[in-house]
Amino acid sequence: MAKKFNTMGSEVQEGFVCKPVVRDNNKPIMYYKSHIFTCSGERCKKAHRTDEFPKRLRQMIKETGLNTGPNRIKVSDVNCFGACRFGAVANFYVNTKGSSNSIINNALWIKKIHRFTEDKWKGIFYALSNGDSIDKMLEAKDHIEMATFD
Ligand code: FES
Repeated sequence: MAKKFNTMGSEVQEGFVCKPVVRDNNKPIMYYKSHIFTCSGERCKKAHRTDEFPKRLRQMIKETGLNTGPNRIKVSDVNCFGACRFGAVANFYVNTKGSSNSIINNALWIKKIHRFTEDKWKGIFYALSNGDSIDKMLEAKDHIEMATFD
């Protein structure tokens, strides 16, 4: 049987999706500076025209070298956010447990991400890595305005 590797490059135990055969503390699967949740619900998937979008995003992150290390960007794929009319949708979180992590890019809901170019994504990744606002890569129309009860 062919060996299988998880997104961190560790060999995966047979019968598991991502559990490493040997835990490598230099590849802590749960460590991240920024976390991007992408939607693969029916309508967002239709907008992307592929089932492979999260895989493509992870590949782009790998190309920037931000798939590992202190500024790691983690991608998790979720089902419908209930924001289908803005599809394809992603939301961004910053690991606020990191004392030097700025919350400037925290809790951002972004729409129509299927229209983003690879250059735009990579600009977003570098901004996340540097703790700069990703707004410099986005237009106002890219944001889903969130209501609060303030
Ligand atoms: S399908 Fe993506 S928000 Fe509903």
